Amino acid sequence: MRLLAIESSCDETSAAVVQDGTTLLSNIIASQEAAHAPFGGVVPEIASRKHLEVITPVIEQALAKASLSLDAVEGIAVTQGPGLAGSLLVGISAAKAIAYARGLPLVGIHHIEGHLFAVFLEKRVEFPFIALVVSGGHTHLYLVDGFGRYRVLGQTRDDAAGEAFDKVAKILGLPYPGGAVIDRLASKGDHTAVALPRPLLRDGSCNFSFSGLKTAVLQFVRKNPVPLEGGALHDLCASFQAAVVDVLVEKAKSALLETGITRLVVAGGVACNSAVRAGMSKLCGEIGVELSIPSPILCTDNAAMIAVPAEFYLKEGIRDGTEMDAKTVWPLDTVSERMKV
Ligand code: KG4
Ligand code: ZN
Repeated sequence: MRLLAIESSCDETSAAVVQDGTTLLSNIIASQEAAHAPFGGVVPEIASRKHLEVITPVIEQALAKASLSLDAVEGIAVTQGPGLAGSLLVGISAAKAIAYARGLPLVGIHHIEGHLFAVFLEKRVEFPFIALVVSGGHTHLYLVDGFGRYRVLGQTRDDAAGEAFDKVAKILGLPYPGGAVIDRLASKGDHTAVALPRPLLRDGSCNFSFSGLKTAVLQFVRKNPVPLEGGALHDLCASFQAAVVDVLVEKAKSALLETGITRLVVAGGVACNSAVRAGMSKLCGEIGVELSIPSPILCTDNAAMIAVPAEFYLKEGIRDGTEMDAKTVWPLDTVSERMKV
């Protein structure tokens, strides 16, 4: 099927055209980063207003880039949740309007399902696989048995990995969102320079905790009140990043060894991180696991990833009506309920 997909769950307005859940024809992403940067985080009210401003041109650009008109579209996919209510509603309203006006099938997709399958736009991964989703809102390990068949193996007890990157960047006076900035500065630093904790590293579970690590960075900065710049800043960024990577790698390893599964997918914005990619690659090389990480542009929020599970659901005859509503909170393991319909 040729699907038009829409994603607006947080601060990126995106529309994409994807053929058969595998071939990316266009993937337009309008970022609101500049609008939120002065506030050091996403302001929900601003986010929904910005989505409203650009949703129609973003959809038009996605069709133009794919050299298609709406006549050629066979179905509509949209992120239904989780996310910011006002932001989600902009994408959902646009999707419903097009589906209704054109008589096209519509399906609402879980945002994390999109992240899980983004890599399918570049390569097919066999089931089952272990997925580590590391983003601004999620740090979860899942066992993925198929589309719609997910089991949570572990998750963060407090901050998500991306949230920790963004909060540490704020402590260091770096711009929002801080993940990519820390990644860049860390590449020039010594990751052994500052001793930082690795929370829950060897507790035997697949759970994570990053708030203590963030506090340790804060305490270090308070004890070293000299403006942090140059080498000292690079060293602290590298040390923080290494602590996050050590934990992510160790927990992914536990999940793989515990289940005996030999395929790992790493997804979400933090999967762009160069040290995360290198650490996972080393781990998988050592234990003989096939590693799949999407290209950075498909790791962060985008609409193309939403089309991948949508293709599966629409083919199964699973679809939503115009009564579909935003789900701000939506545990991924409850998605399977729709398979029984
Ligand atoms: O998946 P995503 O685009 O949005 C959510 O669903 O949350 O992830 C955004 C998160 C932000 O916290 C951002 O700082 C982080 O991904 N991020 C990175 C990098 N690029 C983006 N974190 C570490 N290193 C990066 N290179
Ligand atoms: Zn996301």
